[in-house]
Amino acid sequence: MSMDEFKRKYKIFRTTALPFPNEYVKALMGELNGWSYSEEQALDFKGKWHEEVFSAKNDMPLDLEIGTGNGFHFAHHAKKYPERLLLGLELKYKPLIQSIRRARTEGSENARMARFNATVLDYILADNEVQNVIIHHPDPWLKKSQKKNRLIQDVFMKKLSTIQKENGIVDFKTDNENYYDWALEVFKNSSYSFERETRDLHNSPWAEENFITAFERIFLVKGQPIFYCRLKNTY
Ligand SMILES: C[S@@+](CC[C@H](N)C(=O)[O-])C[C@H]1O[C@@H](n2cnc3c(N)ncnc32)[C@H](O)[C@@H]1O
Repeated sequence: MSMDEFKRKYKIFRTTALPFPNEYVKALMGELNGWSYSEEQALDFKGKWHEEVFSAKNDMPLDLEIGTGNGFHFAHHAKKYPERLLLGLELKYKPLIQSIRRARTEGSENARMARFNATVLDYILADNEVQNVIIHHPDPWLKKSQKKNRLIQDVFMKKLSTIQKENGIVDFKTDNENYYDWALEVFKNSSYSFERETRDLHNSPWAEENFITAFERIFLVKGQPIFYCRLKNTY
């Protein structure tokens, strides 16, 4: 696919072309630009996030959070690990802005957000550019006809494995059992190995260290289990 076709297909110019930008789009392209980036800007940073965005040395680990939602975990991770860099990807403008504002309010200098579709993350991230990956409660797309929209697919795992360093980890959790079973099959067919796996995170050895995200809380309150695994990129 040519770059022009790609941009058309994934609406890469959408942010800058929006005829009536709302307050979040204005913030993204205005006072928060430099902390958050449009899809078009993000395309320019492939292989250059350390140097051009974070002004950091290449050996500083760059972590990636996909689908940050309103950013409680994003801000927590950035603050907890000031010696690491964190890039968040979001499709929706409001949570994107909430995420970066939260990290800024916490005083973190090591976090940036980009509006970008994670299914094509290899267009903005180069081989071995990312250390660890966080995927918390991705949209489950429950209807049979919608399953093709799920983030976790064979082709996505191949891309992820390429942009991620060897031995980098992926933390994946979901509140949806059907999606979890689907994801387990995809993971087993990938180049990743399992480091951790539980069908009830909150009654597991990893409960104490777990950070409860906004979506997770909704399901916890209902007494539903959270499904979790940690994968390692073994190539
Ligand atoms: C169910 S919410 C979970 C949010 C948060 N991780 C949490 O646990 O509270 C999923 C988020 O992923 C975002 N998202 C969905 N598909 C995406 C994609 N392909 N690329 C980037 N973000 C995506 C959605 O906009 C939404 O904010």
